[in-house]
Amino acid sequence: MKLSLLSFAFGVASVAATVPLSSVEKSTVAPNNVIPGEYIVEMSNVQGLGGKRAYASVHDALYRSLRKRGVSFGVKKEYNQPGIMVGATLKVSSPQDVEQIASIAGVEAIRPVVAVPMPKRINQFSVSSPNDSRITADSETTHVMTGVDKAHAAGITGEGIKIGIIDTGIDYNHPLLGGGFGAGFKVIGGYDFVGDAYTGSNTPVPDDDPLDTCNGHGTHVAGIIGANPDNDFGISGVAYGASLASYRLFGCSGFVSDDIIVDALLRGYNDGMDILTLSLGGVEGWTESSSAVVASRIADQGRVVTIAAGNDGAYGSWYASSPGTGVDVIAVGSVNNIAIPVQNATVQGVDHVPIPYLEALPLNISSPRPIYATSTDTTVADDACSPLPDDTPDLSDYLVVIRRGTCTFVTKLANAAAKGANAFLVYNNGGSFSAISVGNYTAALISEADGDFLVNAFASKENITISFLQSGSAWMFPDDTSGGLMSSFSTYGPTYDMYFKPAVSAPGGNILSTLPIALGSYGVESGTSMATPFVAGSAALLLQNRGKDTAKSLRSLLQTTASNVASSKTDGDPLQTVSQQGAGLIQVDRAISTKTVVSPGQLTLNDTAHFEGFKTFTIKNTGSKAVTYRISHVPAGTATSIGSGSIFVSDGPVPLTTQYAQVSFGLNEVTVFPGATVPVPVWFEAPHGVEASTYPVYSGFIQIESPGETLKVTYLGVAASLKDAAVIDNTDEYFGSPIPALLGASGELAGNNTSYTMQGDDVPALLYRLAFGSAHVRLDLVSKDSTVSPTHSKRDWWNWWWPQKPSNSYEKVPIIGTLAEYDYVPRNSDAPTSDDNGYNTYAFTGSFANGTAIAVGEYKVLLRALKVTGNPANEGDYETWLSPSFGVISG
Ligand SMILES: *[C@@H]1O[C@H](CO)[C@@H](O)[C@H](O)[C@H]1NC(C)=O
Ligand SMILES: *[C@@H]1O[C@H](CO)[C@@H](O)[C@H](O)[C@H]1NC(C)=O
Ligand SMILES: *[C@@H]1O[C@H](CO)[C@@H](O)[C@H](O)[C@H]1NC(C)=O
Ligand SMILES: *[C@@H]1O[C@H](CO)[C@@H](O)[C@H](O)[C@H]1NC(C)=O
Ligand SMILES: *[C@@H]1O[C@H](CO)[C@@H](O)[C@H](O)[C@H]1NC(C)=O
Ligand SMILES: *[C@@H]1O[C@H](CO)[C@@H](O)[C@H](O)[C@H]1NC(C)=O
Ligand SMILES: *[C@@H]1O[C@H](CO)[C@@H](O)[C@H](O)[C@H]1NC(C)=O
Ligand SMILES: *[C@@H]1O[C@H](CO)[C@@H](O)[C@H](O)[C@H]1NC(C)=O
Ligand SMILES: *[C@@H]1O[C@H](CO)[C@@H](O)[C@H](O)[C@H]1NC(C)=O
Repeated sequence: MKLSLLSFAFGVASVAATVPLSSVEKSTVAPNNVIPGEYIVEMSNVQGLGGKRAYASVHDALYRSLRKRGVSFGVKKEYNQPGIMVGATLKVSSPQDVEQIASIAGVEAIRPVVAVPMPKRINQFSVSSPNDSRITADSETTHVMTGVDKAHAAGITGEGIKIGIIDTGIDYNHPLLGGGFGAGFKVIGGYDFVGDAYTGSNTPVPDDDPLDTCNGHGTHVAGIIGANPDNDFGISGVAYGASLASYRLFGCSGFVSDDIIVDALLRGYNDGMDILTLSLGGVEGWTESSSAVVASRIADQGRVVTIAAGNDGAYGSWYASSPGTGVDVIAVGSVNNIAIPVQNATVQGVDHVPIPYLEALPLNISSPRPIYATSTDTTVADDACSPLPDDTPDLSDYLVVIRRGTCTFVTKLANAAAKGANAFLVYNNGGSFSAISVGNYTAALISEADGDFLVNAFASKENITISFLQSGSAWMFPDDTSGGLMSSFSTYGPTYDMYFKPAVSAPGGNILSTLPIALGSYGVESGTSMATPFVAGSAALLLQNRGKDTAKSLRSLLQTTASNVASSKTDGDPLQTVSQQGAGLIQVDRAISTKTVVSPGQLTLNDTAHFEGFKTFTIKNTGSKAVTYRISHVPAGTATSIGSGSIFVSDGPVPLTTQYAQVSFGLNEVTVFPGATVPVPVWFEAPHGVEASTYPVYSGFIQIESPGETLKVTYLGVAASLKDAAVIDNTDEYFGSPIPALLGASGELAGNNTSYTMQGDDVPALLYRLAFGSAHVRLDLVSKDSTVSPTHSKRDWWNWWWPQKPSNSYEKVPIIGTLAEYDYVPRNSDAPTSDDNGYNTYAFTGSFANGTAIAVGEYKVLLRALKVTGNPANEGDYETWLSPSFGVISG
């Protein structure tokens, strides 16, 4: 018995179970991982001067101007790549200095440096030998799913192509990765930008050797691209004939600042890499971070750049990851493998077949456990999303069974763990049977049917126990329920500026590949981190076969030949939304052999206020005979991105409806002669009858079918005006009390007229969340007598690219001073912690952003967030919130 995804269409959006206010720390958690005091300053590309010296003088001119203005600064990095990035990463002591920088002629953009986290790892484990009784041999199903096996059979292995892997380094001593480093080896070169001890917050110690022996992520990625065939594990890289270079920018743990990502991108570009691949990223939602912009410009110069779409599928739509957000890069989503390594649990007490659970290694549970179900209702939607009732027994000796749905897995597990639970099975609710994100709990996913069996046995008080054998229980589960579907962890776009993210998808769930020798040599990992190198390797096969000059059209080639991904295995259910699958699962053999070239690969229709409903694509016949193509519309499910009656996104899997766009063509059939190119006009109409307040993201494909080939063009739009979407969370759903809120000295909710000395801990803090992204968020101090009634204003206050250009005015509310400003802010997630972007805080320091002390007096804080597509110069385009009044008193 299986529910179709449509049954979620009217499910309410949710935030996590109430997060206690007492868990909020009173430090500033900036909404976009900004590293304070560091900026990437981009200088205009002086044309016509030519030569390195001219560009060096651009830097000198910048520094001279800064000194003249009395700005003290440090130079962290210089960039000198005309056409891509000329500028520097500067450290300055006060945001006021940024205004000075902005006033210098030739400064094009100033972007804050942001921290990018280590790729989130899902279900990672190492395997000691091919004979490991805990695992079975790989059958290269991922190559079969994508036609890579056919390319290999034709002798296409990526020879002559150079792929730069920007990651945690590579253990090039691994026998499958060539066993050495430098000319003549598989790994021909690279650079270590950071050193082992780098954490993201200390000083990097670069050297020429990108060896990774402590992390493993980059070595796994390298194996997916380049592992040599003919080994006991039965694996091989997608482009094992290609040469690799390793650009290391993570230490053994921690994060990386994006100025280093920019550096690595430029170095890979200068080293002549044909392809650069990055399995990293953090939520941004916009296309504007420095690394996204630079990656996109490199793609524009005719190199292929593949970047992971992210592993945040559980958080729903509008959560695209940067630098994958770069407009011209290939962002990659993850599709489940069609066969997955699973383990069996055995049932005692009644006669029942073993229960497969989704782990490649046995769960470490030593003795048989009786079960405890958190609900005896096998249709409960939000099982264990709230703290368990007081009369719940101590669960430490039980195997706890919980139904999937509504809130994140970790939330459910944490609620049960609060009652002592330490071993869990989560049963499916119609979602995909693929790796789930369980933090470090001992937990795994089982099927819906097995869940029903266990819950019913519990409800009828049957005396059964479950055992987890530690060997001999592994098998390759032919994944009929979710094999070939999108991985539930794969992030949903689109971006707030309505770009396509991801562009395409590739296998990324349960992938066996290489690990550093010191970490066990082989391992299985899941994530868009694994899907991304798969596309990089596939790109190498295409460049080898079709020529390097196809690099700029390669994304479109992959998109137009990809296969559509369904949303479920149930007949009649819609195709998965393009906002999660992109153009679909790449089909490398088709991309290699196609004689028809369709361009562009994607059509972006934007929102209703900026609707682009008329588009044209072209069909080119490169074959030797005339071909007749039939053109038709194949819609994908419309994603209910925001919950009905809610301001919050629907958690993943995002509910889909069958309210489709109307599409008509100038031609339903067209004959194209050899060598000819024919344009086809297309008219789109957003779907009718949808609820605009659910921000329906509609999408689908224009299919172009000839007797021998089927290609497509993929489109995406949203049937609402994004400017209408609520940005500031003004509900009590997350904390149980309304936010935004002012927190007093000990973290309690502050009413009106509290007072602070601004010494030590005697400071207030502001607590806020964004339900939707904002291109500009600012916090200003205003008089305690202020009231806010937003009105329109035509004043052009500031060039909004520059983060710290203050406006000392706000209609009828005099601004006393600016506390903080943030650009291109992502929405928050419903994770219960600030670490995973659950909420933002601003802790007062006693000073304004420019370092001037806040005088004794009575104030309020004005929070403003620009609505999506809003005009930054238009006050009416901001949502505002005014805090309770508070006093600053002398200490
Ligand atoms: C695995 O088993 C095969 C055959 O049983 C044997 O030839 C091989 O040496 C074993 N490999 C390892 C690493 O133990
Ligand atoms: C399994 O759990 C036991 C005790 O909980 C622990 O001592 C042991 O190290 C664990 N084994 C593995 C492989 O994690
Ligand atoms: C995992 O457990 C450790 C200690 O038990 C804890 O510090 C850490 O935060 C946990 N991590 C996650 C992702 O839950
Ligand atoms: C439940 O089964 C176990 C063995 O499976 C047995 O030891 C125990 O006595 C049984 N308890 C009841 C209440 O039947
Ligand atoms: C695991 O259980 C399934 C039935 O659920 C069975 O078909 C399969 O053979 C079992 N495999 C192993 C290795 O126990
Ligand atoms: C959609 O429209 C907005 C507002 O004009 C614009 O900023 C954005 O670039 C557009 N997106 C695309 C994909 O064209
Ligand atoms: C503060 O006072 C204003 C009126 O002066 C009132 O509207 C508001 O609700 C009060 N806020 C709190 C948190 O008590
Ligand atoms: C607010 O508190 C200050 C002392 O911190 C006091 O002087 C003032 O009268 C109070 N205002 C109101 C409206 O209660
Ligand atoms: C800093 O900002 C405050 C508030 O806007 C302003 O009064 C002060 O003059 C500024 N300080 C400097 C040094 O510009």
